[in-house]
Amino acid sequence: MSTYVRKKTPGDTSWFVRDRFGMFIHFGLYSLPARHEWIKTREYISEEKYQSYFNHFNPDLLDAREWARKAKAAGMKYAILTTKHHEGFCLFDTKYTDYNVMNTPYGKDIVREYVDAFRAEGLKIGFYYSLIDWHHPDFPIDKAHPRRKDANAAELDRGRDMKKYAQYMRDQVTELLTNYGKIDILYFDFSYPAHPDAPAWMQFGGAKGKEQWESEKLIALIRSLAPDIILNDRAQIPQDICTPEQEISPKMMNLVDKETGEALTWEACHTFSGSWGYNRDETSWKTPKTLIDLLVRTVASGGNMIMNVGPTSRGDFDDRADEALQVYAKWMKRNSRSIYGCDRADPEFGVSDGAYLTQSADGKRLYVHLLDCPHASVKLTGLDGKIDYAQLLSDGSELTWKENLSYYDSAGNYLGTYLTVNLPGTVFKMLDPVIEIFLK
Ligand code: GLC
Repeated sequence: MSTYVRKKTPGDTSWFVRDRFGMFIHFGLYSLPARHEWIKTREYISEEKYQSYFNHFNPDLLDAREWARKAKAAGMKYAILTTKHHEGFCLFDTKYTDYNVMNTPYGKDIVREYVDAFRAEGLKIGFYYSLIDWHHPDFPIDKAHPRRKDANAAELDRGRDMKKYAQYMRDQVTELLTNYGKIDILYFDFSYPAHPDAPAWMQFGGAKGKEQWESEKLIALIRSLAPDIILNDRAQIPQDICTPEQEISPKMMNLVDKETGEALTWEACHTFSGSWGYNRDETSWKTPKTLIDLLVRTVASGGNMIMNVGPTSRGDFDDRADEALQVYAKWMKRNSRSIYGCDRADPEFGVSDGAYLTQSADGKRLYVHLLDCPHASVKLTGLDGKIDYAQLLSDGSELTWKENLSYYDSAGNYLGTYLTVNLPGTVFKMLDPVIEIFLK
């Protein structure tokens, strides 16, 4: 039983907090230059040059069923695909702009292929939709816009009507929630409200927040079309989930409701190598241990995690992404019981440094993740007399423990009792060995 109250929200997060682990997929025209999804604005790429990516967009190796099979094998229970990123290019057949996949050499609705394939594999379906749009004629030329340094930027910006753009978003979100069956998550990205202390790059000139997006209206529309859908908070109105990035357990965000103290539901998103879109030359790929560490410590902190894949412009996952997904597949095959349906452990339980605890939602199973615990045994407090049985999760081999051991500080003062679980030498070669404890 979770030892804390989770704040109730409009969307249905019951499956979400059970499933814990998903795949993020960033795919778009930026996959052709292959050096980050913000490339258009980072390099002030001209409209004419960027159009060449549109003209050559033809992911001939794209097989959404293969994407889905790899996600499922990795233990991922849901996925979120970019339907439109900041570049404004739409991966779906939309009647509100010609800047969509149907008019590229590929000519097929990638969102449709994704939905059909992932639904067929039993995964929940999420859509990422960028609030920012560097292609739309009514989106202002602000300080994040690729045209901001053009000589005629001011002229380009004249007459742009944010209200028309807000309506465009409502129209497209209606298409996305109407034409593709039941959608489980809608993931907006992102607001940059003016704040005097915000870093310069966040200022962007011309704040973009709930007022500019007309978020109240947008969210009311969404709730009318898909009442149970899970919405994130990036349209600057808290909804169902907080979405910290590239953090494990975001202490800075204080993930509790300020008035009631109830725990907020949150999901951390991470990348294999730093960039969300395919980045050919990025060398900062995470090690297998880091990949497992991120997932374990996120769930041990009470959160979900989505790990991002950026397909190449050919439409498939590159070898590095495949290898990283294989790390998850191998570890989750034997250890997923310590992730699915688990949450942070009862705070009365303590564990040696470098080890982390997850606990089943019904409270009956406790998992000790040895991650960075270098000792031949692991210390646990608050568990004397409470263990019915213990085993190494990966091979189900019984483990023994000694309990009611006295604990003293280095000055010889008695501190209380603890128990130790004796570990086989084999654990030191394993990637996050897990002890499964059945509580009385
Ligand atoms: C950041 C990145 C954006 C990415 C998002 C994923 O906002 O700027 O490119 O899509 O994170 O959460």
